[in-house]
Amino acid sequence: MTKLNDINILAIESSCDDTSAAVYTNEIIKSNITASQLDHSLYGGVVPEVASRQHDIHITMVVDEALKKADITTSELSAVAVTKGPGLIGSLHVGVSFAKGLALSLGIPIIAVHHMHAHILSHFIDEPKPKFPFLCLTVSGGHTQIVRVDSYKDMTILGETIDDAAGEAFDKSGKILGLPYPAGPIIDKNAHLGMAKYKFAKPHVAGYNFSFSGFKTSVLYFIQDRIKEDANFVKANLNDICASIQEGIIQILIEKLSQAINDTGIKSVAIAGGVSANKGLRNQLAEQAEQNGWELFIPDFQYCTDNAGMIGMAAYFKYLDGKFDSQVLSAEPRWPFIH
Ligand code: KG4
Ligand code: ZN
Repeated sequence: MTKLNDINILAIESSCDDTSAAVYTNEIIKSNITASQLDHSLYGGVVPEVASRQHDIHITMVVDEALKKADITTSELSAVAVTKGPGLIGSLHVGVSFAKGLALSLGIPIIAVHHMHAHILSHFIDEPKPKFPFLCLTVSGGHTQIVRVDSYKDMTILGETIDDAAGEAFDKSGKILGLPYPAGPIIDKNAHLGMAKYKFAKPHVAGYNFSFSGFKTSVLYFIQDRIKEDANFVKANLNDICASIQEGIIQILIEKLSQAINDTGIKSVAIAGGVSANKGLRNQLAEQAEQNGWELFIPDFQYCTDNAGMIGMAAYFKYLDGKFDSQVLSAEPRWPFIH
C-alpha cells in the first residue's frame, strides 16, 4: 500500500536483448525483473528482428511481475519511465509504445531516459553513492566511454571508442574461440582458471579514446597461426587464452582511465555497464585504487548489465525536475549523449 506523497515510477528497459521492468518508490527499488533472451547465442550475436519479437512476448509478463513484487497496482503509479535510446530501433519501439500506451490509459506522465546516463546513475541506487564530480568508465556491449559527471544531468564524455566497444572485444574474441554469445561472462569465468601468458595488439589512440578492433584482429591472427601448428590449440589452452584476452582488454581500459584521473585530478571513480561485472576488471581496479588513493565505486552485479532499475533511478531525478515527455515521444536508436 502506498502513501499519498509517494513517488511510484514504473521503469521499462528494452534497448537491446533484455526485457526489464522495475518499480521505484521514492528512493528505493521495490522490484527489478529481467527476462534475458537466450535465442541469440545460436547466432553469435543479437539478431535485432528476433530481439524485438522476444520483447513483445515478454513485456507484459515482466511488467506484471515487477508490479506484483513491488506490491503495487497501476492506479498507484506516478509516472512511467522508458529507455528512448540509444539502442536497437525495433527493441526500443516495443518499450516506448508499451510505456506510452500505459501512461495514456492511466493519465500519468511519461519520462524518456537515456540508456548511457542510466548506466552511470545506477551508482545512486545503493550506498555508498559517489560525490560530484566523479569519473565514470562505462563499458558495455555497445559503448566504451570515460565520462566526467558533475551532477545528475551535467555529464561530459572525455573519451570513447572509435570502433568496437569493450563488450564487443570480449564477445568477438569469444566467437573466434567458438564460445557462444555473450562470451564476456564465459571468458571471465575461464580467465580465473588460466594464466595471461599471450600478448595481443595494444592500440595507440589519441587522448582518452579507445580502439578495440586491432586487438580483436590480433586475437584472430594469433589463433589462426597456432591452429595451423596444432588443431587442438584452443581446446587445450582455453583458460590461458581467455586470461590473456581479458588481461589485454583490462590493460587498455585501465591505462586510459588512469590517464584521465591523473589529468583531471578527479580521484573519485566509478565503473558501469555490462563489462563492469567482469571480476578481473573489478579486482584490478580495486588494487589500483588502493595503490593510488582513488575512491572506487563498483555497482552491484544486478545493476551492471541492462536493467530497468537504473532507468527508474535516472527517471526519479527527471521526475523531481519536472522533466516529462509527451505522447509524441519516439524511440531514437542514436539519441545523442547531450540532447
Ligand atoms: O550493458 P550491457 O548489459 O548491454 C549493453 O548496453 O550493451 O552489456 C553487455 C555486454 C556484453 O558484451 C557482455 O559480454 C558483457 O557486457 N559482459 C561481460 C561480463 N558480463 C557481461 N564482459 C566481461 N565480463 C563479464 N563478467
Ligand atoms: Zn547497457
